[in-house]
Amino acid sequence: MKTQVAIIGGGPAGLLLAQLLHTRGIESIILERKTRDYVLARIRAGVLEQGLVRLLQEAGCADRLHAEGHVHDGTLISYGDEMFRIDFTDLTGTPVIVYGQTEVTRDLYAARDAAGGLIEFNAENVVIHDADSDRPHVTYSVDGMARRIDCDFVAGCDGFHGVSRKTIPQDVRRDYEKVYPFGWLGILSETPPVNPELIYANSPRGFALCSMRNENLSRYYIQCPTTDRPEDWTDDAFWAELKRRIPADQAETLVTGPSIEKSIAPLRSFVTEPMRWGRLFLCGDAAHIVPPTGAKGLNTAASDVHYLYHALRSYYETGSQDGIDGYSAKALARVWKAERFSWWFSNLMHRFPDHSEFDQKMQLADLAFLRSNRAAQQAMAENYVGLPY
Ligand code: APR
Ligand code: PHB
Repeated sequence: MKTQVAIIGGGPAGLLLAQLLHTRGIESIILERKTRDYVLARIRAGVLEQGLVRLLQEAGCADRLHAEGHVHDGTLISYGDEMFRIDFTDLTGTPVIVYGQTEVTRDLYAARDAAGGLIEFNAENVVIHDADSDRPHVTYSVDGMARRIDCDFVAGCDGFHGVSRKTIPQDVRRDYEKVYPFGWLGILSETPPVNPELIYANSPRGFALCSMRNENLSRYYIQCPTTDRPEDWTDDAFWAELKRRIPADQAETLVTGPSIEKSIAPLRSFVTEPMRWGRLFLCGDAAHIVPPTGAKGLNTAASDVHYLYHALRSYYETGSQDGIDGYSAKALARVWKAERFSWWFSNLMHRFPDHSEFDQKMQLADLAFLRSNRAAQQAMAENYVGLPY
């Protein structure tokens, strides 16, 4: 087979890139290791920056988002029984939209289907060849049948565990990583959210987050040791611990119920440089990972896709190489700002095992300053709603 852009990975980054390229008549084929149902079963964060909303509109995939998404003008931050609000719209003029990443992915798959976009599911043994030449190709197999795609470019949208990043030689690539000494135990429950807005909670017992998908589907997280497993936690134990970490008045109104999903995610900050090698371009989790505290994973994948889409569009429409030559530096400039915000917010809100009493006092002083200072709130809000592309 031949195509213009071979896209490795059928998650949000790969799907969004394919759909945007399609709007400009640029052909692509997506190779996805899993099945569509498997991809759609993943539970991931659901806070969308306006930049991502605009990209989904440009891709013709934002109708359901606008119909079913919830506009959030702010978020709540608590420490002990204290709680204050960061008013995004007052501070930045911009809200965020709460809409499950699963729904974003579902909308993107529907758009690919409507456009007749080619997605190879169950693609195994994907290997990227001659990425450092002007005639790259990709080999893979489906049901044991060997296949090959000759292409102009390869977009590595295959996440942290994919093959794309590892295709860049180790003497070319530089990885930066920080692993956090805790994880997030998350549950999904068919219960009304405890609050119409998200609550990020710092407590002496550890971090907690109260989020939601809709009026009767809530998403809650508590910080847990990296050695914990989901089966170590009964629903009752989870609810009891969550109640201890959020303000008492919120705990009193919390509606509990059976978990319909329970999982533990490790937390890491990770960036690989460069995000381009020859005709291979990395997008999204293939190139960087953030702790979910700032909800920057999907939103930073979106800005990568924006930059790569415009670079490829410029190449095909004008012959200019400037966009593709500048892609890595441009994407990394915003990636590092998202990494910084996610790291900062994670340090502010979590209980670190090696924290001294002084460190804990510094956290509380930071929270008190954020509560009292408009400039500090504006800086936080500008990062949360999304820095400009
Ligand atoms: N070959 C083909 N597909 C692969 C391979 C491979 N070798 N390895 C991984 N994949 C697929 C995965 O099955 C997954 O569907 O690539 C896709 C990568 O999707 P994500 O991991 O979702 O990454 P990305 O599209 O960059 O989205 C970033 O979505 O999943 C969240 O936490 C993530 O919020 C972040 C955002
Ligand atoms: C979620 O709803 O899953 C969610 C929201 C905000 C975050 C992380 C996760 O920062």
